[in-house]
Amino acid sequence: MQHDQRPTLPQPDATSAEHSTRVAEYIRARMADAGGSLSFAEFMQHALYAPGLGYYAAGATKFGAKGDFVTAPEISPVFGRVLARQCAEVLADVERGSILEYGAGSGRLARDVLETLARFDALPERYEILEVSAELQERQALYLRGELPELVSRVAWLDRPPVNHAGVVIANEVLDALPVERFKRCAGGVMQLRVIDDGGAFAFVEAPAPEKLLESVLAIEEQLGGKLPAGFVSDISLGLPAWVSALADTLQCGVAFLFDYGVTRREYYAAERSGGWLRCHFRHHAHNNPLLLTGIQDLTAWVDFSAVAEAGLTSGLDVAGYSPQAQFLIGGGLEAEMQEFGSLPLASQLELSGQVKTLTLPGAMGEHFKCLALRRGDVRIPSAFRMADRTHTL
Ligand SMILES: C[S@@+](CC[C@H](N)C(=O)[O-])C[C@H]1O[C@@H](n2cnc3c(N)ncnc32)[C@H](O)[C@@H]1O
Repeated sequence: MQHDQRPTLPQPDATSAEHSTRVAEYIRARMADAGGSLSFAEFMQHALYAPGLGYYAAGATKFGAKGDFVTAPEISPVFGRVLARQCAEVLADVERGSILEYGAGSGRLARDVLETLARFDALPERYEILEVSAELQERQALYLRGELPELVSRVAWLDRPPVNHAGVVIANEVLDALPVERFKRCAGGVMQLRVIDDGGAFAFVEAPAPEKLLESVLAIEEQLGGKLPAGFVSDISLGLPAWVSALADTLQCGVAFLFDYGVTRREYYAAERSGGWLRCHFRHHAHNNPLLLTGIQDLTAWVDFSAVAEAGLTSGLDVAGYSPQAQFLIGGGLEAEMQEFGSLPLASQLELSGQVKTLTLPGAMGEHFKCLALRRGDVRIPSAFRMADRTHTL
């Protein structure tokens, strides 16, 4: 396994360390309830979402320079402005359409999309947010009331997906936050990696894979045309199909834009990628040991976009496009959004061009991040996919 057991990480402050101890105690209690171990997906679920305790459920800063990581909307408003242009195209094809955003983080993306749509006189009836974290819901409401006092009345927070949503769905870096299972292919079978308490520290142990995990790994091997090599360790989100199916139940007509870091299935399970796709973030240090800093670091897994497309098709949606973030932004109106660039003061020009580089350069977010769009109904393919649609690679 490719775990760097002792990455060089900053020390958490006393309050965070204390909080982490509480989360770890909560997880140990859940392990005891379950007979001594948890699947990695259960561990990840508790570490991120345990009510009032998990990384997304408690008060950590998370986003931006003072947090643990930055996402595209935190890097630049240009991301949301270009996406808003794509939203406007979809909304033009849907009667009385609205926007539904999953996992809205700090609320910045909602601000940028709404501000831009107001500029185009193309505001949706409603901007709905479905956020699992009560703490983030509060933070988003506070932020949007301050930033968009005249538009915030259009924003609503939902407890469950709406029935018959028509218009746009947005999810930026939500799929990577869904819990994943870890597995290991051995010569004689498939093992599940489970988490135990090993004398005060969490550790992985192997156990025979339960039926659903085993079936899913065998199905992947069948698609890839052969067994994964012995000793190969990787990840799989067994909850992803249900998430996409719930999205499909909601989307009566329109387009869902799903952004994340991810690859096709063939790339995900390529022999040289043994070690899997988990990524952890603590104070802007990325590493791959998910068993450290429990509850105070972000745990994520890259996305198998073929699995997302497959789940969409099974649920009656079609794939409207799949493209790297750079091509999505360039095809989707980046140049038009940069028209004022020459008239900005030099310092702002430098700042903006730095932001655009981060969003688009292959070594930054341009290539690893993708947008997969799922669609239902008589809605045009968003123009952002005209530049480089890679749906055929999925
Ligand atoms: C990595 S953050 C991304 C936040 C924001 N979209 C951004 O780009 O800055 C993941 C977000 O997804 C939310 N989330 C995780 N699982 C979710 C689910 N099943 N439904 C809705 N939101 C979810 C988290 O609470 C968090 O707000």
